[in-house]
Amino acid sequence: MLHQMKRLRIPGWFGRSERQKMMDEHIARSGTAYFGFREMARAEKNKAVQAHFNRVAAKYDFMNSLLSFGIHHFWKRKAVRILDLRPGQQVLDVCGGTGDLSVYAARRIGPDGDVFVYDMNRRMMEAGRSRPGNRHYRRQLHYVQGDAERLCFADNRFEAAMVGFGIRNLTHLKKGFSEMYRVLKPGGKVMCLEFSRPVNPLFRALYDGYSFYFMPLLGSLLAGSGNSYSCLSETIRMFATPDELKAILGAVGFESVSYKRLTNGIAAIHLGRKPFSFPAEPSKDKA
Ligand SMILES: C[S@@+](CC[C@H](N)C(=O)[O-])C[C@H]1O[C@@H](n2cnc3c(N)ncnc32)[C@H](O)[C@@H]1O
Repeated sequence: MLHQMKRLRIPGWFGRSERQKMMDEHIARSGTAYFGFREMARAEKNKAVQAHFNRVAAKYDFMNSLLSFGIHHFWKRKAVRILDLRPGQQVLDVCGGTGDLSVYAARRIGPDGDVFVYDMNRRMMEAGRSRPGNRHYRRQLHYVQGDAERLCFADNRFEAAMVGFGIRNLTHLKKGFSEMYRVLKPGGKVMCLEFSRPVNPLFRALYDGYSFYFMPLLGSLLAGSGNSYSCLSETIRMFATPDELKAILGAVGFESVSYKRLTNGIAAIHLGRKPFSFPAEPSKDKA
């Protein structure tokens, strides 16, 4: 294993032209998509993502807390707090996985509200459903299996839609945001919590070493899959910068889009709103 690690090189962060390869327009033109640094036919990406989360589902929460030193809970609590949810609201958690964001949202919306954990991976949702926190809010939490690029909800259904660490796994990212736009009520809020590029160069160098040496090592020792954890780091390096993501949300039709960096920019929270009066057919033209 050490021999293998010595051969590992730490890849840098991608430039704008490389990051464009993750965008819907490039994928439509080329017919290929990336999952981490792996290029594949676009029809194959969902299968690769499913296989990945099938592999990690059982240990997902444990590894998340270990690898982030528990900080992801702080990020998630903060992200839900920024949404400023009210009692009785209807909330959608896209790519909800084991449901951390949903549980924090359920606390805020109280017994008269509903949160839908929406994920294409059944094992991830099953792993979350049996946790004490999820069971505590079982009346408010609803689990729906489906693809984020084709939400199975009516237009103008939710007061808030959120996505945590999931949007970069979609094949067509804008399509995912357009779907969130569609199901939000006018005035409804979108929140996206996603990994990003640390701002400080020294901190970034340490983070890079951690991501490409220690995460795969721990993944291989504790979760039986080093590759899954280097893939996680790869997808982060391919992903849009906070400013690019802000522009994407604006292009989909959201207004008042802002973002906040967390922990020197390891993650960022984007917040936006669906306007009360619609521009002409925003999601169809721009997705
Ligand atoms: C990194 S996990 C994040 C889970 C959770 N939101 C959290 O913050 O802990 C990403 C989740 O996105 C889901 N996912 C990826 N692509 C999806 C898609 N196209 N449609 C629905 N879910 C998807 C995966 O199955 C996985 O559960």
